[in-house]
Formats: sequence, C-alpha cells, structure tokens
Amino acid sequence: MAATVSRICGAGLLKSASTPSITQISSYSTRDWSRSRKALLGSLGVLAGGAGALLFALDKSVKASELELHPPKNPWNHNGPFSSLDHASIRRGYEVYKQVCAACHSMRFIAYRNLVGVSHTEDEAKAEAEEQMITDGPDESGNFFQRPGKLSDYFPNPYPNEEAARAANNGAFPPDLSYIVSARHGGEDYIFSLLTGYCDAPAGIVLREGQYYNPYFPGGAISMAQALFNEVIEYSDGTPATASQLAKDVATFLKWTAEPEHDDRKKMLIKSIGIFTILIALTYYIKRFKWTVIKSRKIEFRPKK
Ligand code: HEC
Repeated sequence: MAATVSRICGAGLLKSASTPSITQISSYSTRDWSRSRKALLGSLGVLAGGAGALLFALDKSVKASELELHPPKNPWNHNGPFSSLDHASIRRGYEVYKQVCAACHSMRFIAYRNLVGVSHTEDEAKAEAEEQMITDGPDESGNFFQRPGKLSDYFPNPYPNEEAARAANNGAFPPDLSYIVSARHGGEDYIFSLLTGYCDAPAGIVLREGQYYNPYFPGGAISMAQALFNEVIEYSDGTPATASQLAKDVATFLKWTAEPEHDDRKKMLIKSIGIFTILIALTYYIKRFKWTVIKSRKIEFRPKK
C-alpha cells in the first residue's frame, strides 16, 4: 500500500527532477500595487468599518431604554451544553400554564401529542386532551359540532380572535406563548423576572387604567396583571407552589415549547463529539501515513552546469 502511494505521489509531485526550473516567489507586499487599487481597497475598508459601527450603534439604541431593567441570569438546570431540560419542571409548568395563563394566552403551535414522552404518558396526554371541547366539522349535514379533544388537537385558544382578546384585556393583546422565550431578549430569565417582578410604580410614573408596573417590561407599564402568587394553584406532585416556583416551572415549560428539540440537539452534540473525535484521529493518522513517503524524502536542487 505505502509503496503504491509513494509511487503515485512521487510520480506526480517530483516530476521536475529532469528539468530543474524553480522560480522564487517574491514575498507578498502591497508596494507594487497601483495607486488606484490602494485607494479602492482603502475606501472599501473605511466603508466596511463605518457600516459595522453604524450597525452596532443601531443595535445599542434599540436596547438602551432607560426605563427597562434587564433580567439577571438564573442558574437553570438546562444551562450547560450537555444539560437537558428538567422534565418534572416542564410537567409542573404545564399545570401552571393550563390553570393560570391559558385563561388569556393561546399556544397555537403545541398539540397534546407533543406532551407524550416529554411531560406526560400517552394516556395522561389523552386525558388532558379529552378535558377540552373542540369544535369540529362540518359533518354530513354541514353543521359544526363539539367533540372531546384528541391527541392531535392543538391547545385551545381562549378567544375566538384577536379583537375579542383585545376587548377582554383593555385593548392589549396577550401574545401567543408558544415561542415567547425565543421572541424576547433574555429568554426564560425574562419570563421569570417578568412574572415575579411586579411592584409599585415609582414616583413620577403615571399608569393608565388597566396598567400595572413591571420594571422588566420595556417601558414599565404592562397590561397584564400579576398572575402568580403563592399557592395560586396546587401542584399534583406536592411541590410547594410558591410564586417563584410557579414562575420557574412555567418558564421551563415555555422554554420547552419554544425549543422542543432542545434535548435532542444536546444529545446530538454529545454524539457528534464522539464521532468526530474518532474521525479526526483517523484522518490525522491517514494524513501522516500518506505523507510519510514525501516528508521523509530529501529534495536537492542541482542547476545544470
Ligand atoms: C388576565 C389575563 C392574563 C393572564 C392570566 C396572563 N396574562 Fe400574560 N399577558 C396578558 C396581556 C393582556 C398581555 C399583554 C401586555 C401588554 O402588551 O402590555 C400579556 C403579556 C404577556 C407576556 C409578554 C410580555 C412582553 O414582553 O411582551 C408574557 C411573556 C406573558 N404575558 C406571560 C404570561 C404567563 C407565563 C402567564 C401565566 C403564568 C400569563 N401571562 C398570564 C394577559 C394575561
């Protein structure tokens, strides 16, 4: 094998032995560029730098609202590169969503079947679905009818449309929560801080009717009243339902709804590290093996007399 490789490589790379013609490549320098080329490249560099600075300034100007408090980073169970979501917490978070948030917030992109194997068994998820009455149809006579939910049904919307939602909430629209963790700066830290951060408005801030003060909400005046209090619901697993526990669990649940692939993604990382470690070692060995013949060969330059 090695002999064959050496013969092929040797033949290709070292052919010039009979006709020695080696030109020296001069070292790279901008000295022999034309003036216009230098000017063009110079202005391109200035333009790129300017564009970068402008983007940075624009980004800063959007974030720097003086009335906004940035959420602190919390030590979530799923923070590390190899850490999965806390599934008991997802299950409790689902209970919080169902019993508190679902009164106002829809979750259009999560179906009951998505819970199977994540927070509920198939039978439990079926039972959850069957608690809801879903409008289906039309039947043979063209009428819509109500039926108990199935695993394939999506979570029900508390309002028939956005206008109804606004009318019920003082003109403010409670956003769909499926992707809210990805849709807000700070992700689950923001959700946690928002839910636990309600306080009295500082002097000088006037709230309109139906507004509440929350320093984490951009601008401070939010149209959602504080939803979580100690013992506002009871957990089925007996965990003490303090306001911060409820907020932590619902934030974990919302992290899962926004990134259902979270655990698989991290598992994939572990697998790919394993596979690529082997592949890189193998590639390195093969490279060394193939090049031994050339690397251990001495090349001499003998100009013709
Ligand atoms: C009484 C109805 C109601 C309940 C219950 C409710 N919300 Fe809200 N929520 C609202 C409304 C209305 C808004 C829009 C507020 C605004 O735009 O000022 C909102 C906004 C939000 C936002 C978006 C804030 C932003 O940055 O735009 C999040 C996140 C949120 N709610 C989470 C929750 C969670 C989690 C629960 C359950 C623990 C919950 N809400 C319970 C009515 C409700």
